[in-house]
Amino acid sequence: MRVLLGEHDDLAELYAPPDQPWLRVNMVTTVDGAATGDDGTSRSINTGADKVVFDLLREQADALVVGAGTVRIEGYAVGRKPLVVVSRTGAVPPTQRDAARGRVLMATVSSAPYLHQAREILGDEHVLVLGSHRVDLGRLKDELVLRGFRHQLSEGGPHLLRDLLDQGVADELDCTIVPRMVSGSHRRITDGPPVDVPLRLATLVEQDDTLLARWFVAR
Ligand SMILES: NC(=O)c1ccc[n+]([C@@H]2O[C@H](COP(=O)([O-])OP(=O)(O)OC[C@H]3O[C@@H](n4cnc5c(N)ncnc54)[C@H](OP(=O)(O)O)[C@@H]3O)[C@@H](O)[C@H]2O)c1
Repeated sequence: MRVLLGEHDDLAELYAPPDQPWLRVNMVTTVDGAATGDDGTSRSINTGADKVVFDLLREQADALVVGAGTVRIEGYAVGRKPLVVVSRTGAVPPTQRDAARGRVLMATVSSAPYLHQAREILGDEHVLVLGSHRVDLGRLKDELVLRGFRHQLSEGGPHLLRDLLDQGVADELDCTIVPRMVSGSHRRITDGPPVDVPLRLATLVEQDDTLLARWFVAR
């Protein structure tokens, strides 16, 4: 591992979250900007070095905040960290339906067609209604802090990342660039209407030609 920018030579220290409520987003992309490979998920583009940081960031998080689309497409299994699924429809992804109560939360809206079902599956107290038609992601972050989840890790996907940036909720972007070019018409790591958010590079690490960058949202 080569630390190209950063004050430590230990990954855990390089990525330590600050001692305050913090939401960071971890994404992976090819050099030519693809967020997925041929299988339609990020699994086909990530590398060993990316996986190391992916696991470390999960370890350092109190809870994961993930778009329902990504949970569905990537087939998230019930994991060790609480998972907060963000969804406009309120449909609980199939892989999360049998999770123990409290392991999965849903952030949704009062107009969600599957709101009632989400409450039945997850329990009323684990379904956060944060708006009528749009999930207020700032309120979500605050609500999660109140529940003891100060360090929040989002793993996307691209629509959720875009909305977190648009609503000024993301504090940090951890972006892995893998040494590949894939062309084709793949998603980028953001999707949706334009946003323009300046970033400041805090850390840059290289491992086996994979670049691991830690960016802070400039405020
Ligand atoms: N390269 C990477 O690091 C990376 C990371 C994650 C995902 N991906 C890939 O990205 C693709 C999925 O992209 P995507 O943009 O569809 O993912 P996404 O943002 O996770 O999914 C979109 C869905 O999530 C919910 N959602 C997202 N933002 C929301 C918001 N602000 N408010 C309410 N609900 C919200 C909605 O679910 P409902 O339909 O239930 O309302 C929406 O239809 C997959 O191919 C996945 O493999 C790549």
